Parts: sequence; C-alpha cells; structure tokens
Amino acid sequence: MAISHEKLRVGLIGTGSFGPNFATYITEHADLVAVCDPNPAGRDEFAKQTGLRLPEFDHHEGLLEAADVDAVVICSPNATHKEIAVAAAEQGKHVFCEKAMATCVPDCWEMVRACDKANTRLMVGHKRRLRPPWARMIELRKELGDVLAITSCGYFDSRPYPFAESWWRFRDKSGGTLMVSGVHVVDWMRAMCGDVASVRALAAPQADRRYDFPDTLHVALEFNSGAVASLSVSLVYPPLKFRESGGPQVVYQDGGARLVAQMEQLDLYWQRQDEAESHFEQFDDIGIDHAFSQEFGDFVRWVADADYEPCLTWREGLRCVEVMEAAHRSADEGGSIIRLPLYPELEIT
Ligand SMILES: NC(=O)c1ccc[n+]([C@@H]2O[C@H](COP(=O)([O-])OP(=O)(O)OC[C@H]3O[C@@H](n4cnc5c(N)ncnc54)[C@H](O)[C@@H]3O)[C@@H](O)[C@H]2O)c1
Repeated sequence: MAISHEKLRVGLIGTGSFGPNFATYITEHADLVAVCDPNPAGRDEFAKQTGLRLPEFDHHEGLLEAADVDAVVICSPNATHKEIAVAAAEQGKHVFCEKAMATCVPDCWEMVRACDKANTRLMVGHKRRLRPPWARMIELRKELGDVLAITSCGYFDSRPYPFAESWWRFRDKSGGTLMVSGVHVVDWMRAMCGDVASVRALAAPQADRRYDFPDTLHVALEFNSGAVASLSVSLVYPPLKFRESGGPQVVYQDGGARLVAQMEQLDLYWQRQDEAESHFEQFDDIGIDHAFSQEFGDFVRWVADADYEPCLTWREGLRCVEVMEAAHRSADEGGSIIRLPLYPELEIT
C-alpha cells in the first residue's frame, strides 16, 4: 500500500500496560491517530498516561473501517494477535505485532500468508537482541569466534506482575511458560546461534497452581550450527526481580562472556583464551528506549521502502514461537526431543 501523506498513520490496538509505553515510540516515528481496546477504563488510563486524546474504538474492525490508518500496532493479549493481524492485512494495512507473534506456529503462518497476499509488511517486536549489552554479545563473535554454548537462568519473582491474575496464566491465551518469561532470551539465542534444530524441555513440580502451565521449566536447544544452549525459567523465585534474571554465560570458539544483569545496570565481562583477565564493560542504561525506537523506526522505513532491510521481520517472531511451542510440547511429553521445523507442511519454500 503506497503512503501518500508525510507520516505513517498508525492505529494502536490494545491500550493495556504496554500500549501506553509503546505509544512513545510510535509517536517518535509516525502519527498515532486512533486507539482500540474493549476496556473503556483502559482507554481512559491510556489517555491519562500519554496525554493523547484520540478517536477510540472498542473493536479492531471498527478502527480498521473508520480510522484511515496505514498500519496497526498490536499490543493486545497474545491469543488475539492472529485475528487482528489477518483482519488488518485484509484491509491492506501494515502490521507491527508485539511479541509473542501468536500462541502457536500455524497462527503465525496465517498472519504471514495474509500479509503476503495483501503485500503489506509484518514485523514482530523482539527488542532484546537490539538492547546494547545484548547486541554487544552478538557483536563479540567478531572478536571471539562462533558461539558454541550458552546458558541462561531466568528465575525471577513474578509476584509484582499481573501474570498469575490475568490472561497470562492461561496457556490458550498467553501460549504458556516461555511466552511469559523466556521469549526474549530465546530470540536473542537465535540471533547468537542461528536456527534451532531440536528442542527438549522438562517441567519441575508446580509451585503456583494459578498457572495452568509449568511455572518452572528447563529447556535444552541444539542449533543447526552444532551450538547448544540451556534456558531455565521460573516464575516462582523470590530472590531475584525480573531485571536481575537471565544474564547469560556464553562459550565462544576463542573465549567467553558473561552478562550480570542488575536492576539499574548490566555488567559485561569477556575474555579471549589467550588473555589472563576479563575485559569489563558496564551499561548504565539498560537500553530499552534505544531498542524500541530502533525496531519501530525500522518498521516505518520498511513500509516506506519495501527493499529496505529492517532489523526484524516476521521471521524472528515465527521462529521464536516455534521454539517455545516445541519446548512446551516436549515438556508435556515428559522431555521428548522435538525436531524443527515443527510444521514442515506449512513452510513457505
Ligand atoms: N516487547 C516487550 O518488551 C513487551 C513488554 C510487555 C508486553 N508486551 C506484549 O504486549 C502485549 C500486551 O501485553 P500487556 O502487558 O500490555 O497486557 P495487558 O493485559 O496489560 O493489556 C492488554 C490490553 O489488550 C486489551 N485487549 C484484550 N483483547 C483485545 C482485543 N481483541 N482487541 C484489542 N484489545 C484487546 C485489554 O483490554 C488490555 O487493555 C502482549 O503480547 C505482550 O507480550 C511486549
């Protein structure tokens, strides 16, 4: 769809806790012209937090029909992403969808096919790989060689968040354990090591029965490159806050790195095999603003120029959902090894 006006006109779908945050990055690069949320209190809260008084809709169809938008940003619960993205594509709109792209791979492919048919762009927001300390570990491959192994422990205390009280706690609405915690690190691991060949996962006994999926999960990944990774997540670990968890340790061909995540800073240590001591780089800014602005700015550029190569597309979103769905399936089956692609019959060749 060609854009005739100077700035991209965007409709924001989902004005809950993340919607108002993301509005900052939309307005940096585009015109935010309408919002949609079935919850009037959420829409009021959005207006209060952002100071924006915009046309409001309680259903995405209303916004798509009446708001004259070029693109939508989807910040609604994961299980709603597919229906909204497909409806938007059918109206010729470009789609920026928050992670997780959807709750299962077949839904992701439906979104891809709908946007492909409409010739509209589809990007999934996966900011972690763009945050400077995490991007630095990707860049360190130039200095330290290929990645051979990664381990990341994402144990944290989920009680300050609404996960156990809202749609997040239901697998059919959120997608399960890794969609709540792990999605960011899974995408970053793919940025480090490439595509995943197989997945195995084991669930620990349940601590918090409000979740209808395992609240502690250990996952093992094998990549096509031969690299291996382990990712452990727990939502019931009081000693650490979310921001303090997940800092990985990386074995490179010619050295190693470890990231120590803290509330207000991230400390990166890295060392070559032939060095006696580690280099130390401190990141005082955890880099969230930079990452969100980069991904949405790239989306806008990509819409303007279909040949532009953005930092993310739908591929990262789909492959990330694939790894997570495979891990949940493996855990359901008591730790079976699941080979990817998960749905070979759906792949576009
Ligand atoms: N990239 C990130 O770091 C990041 C951070 C937080 C959330 N997110 C993503 O943003 C999305 C929303 O998360 P949240 O924490 O804001 O959830 P939330 O529950 O706080 O907000 C979701 C909002 O969507 C609304 N909603 C429900 N069904 C809808 C529908 N069919 N159409 C339009 N709106 C609908 C709800 O009323 C609610 O206001 C999720 O996909 C989440 O993974 C991404």
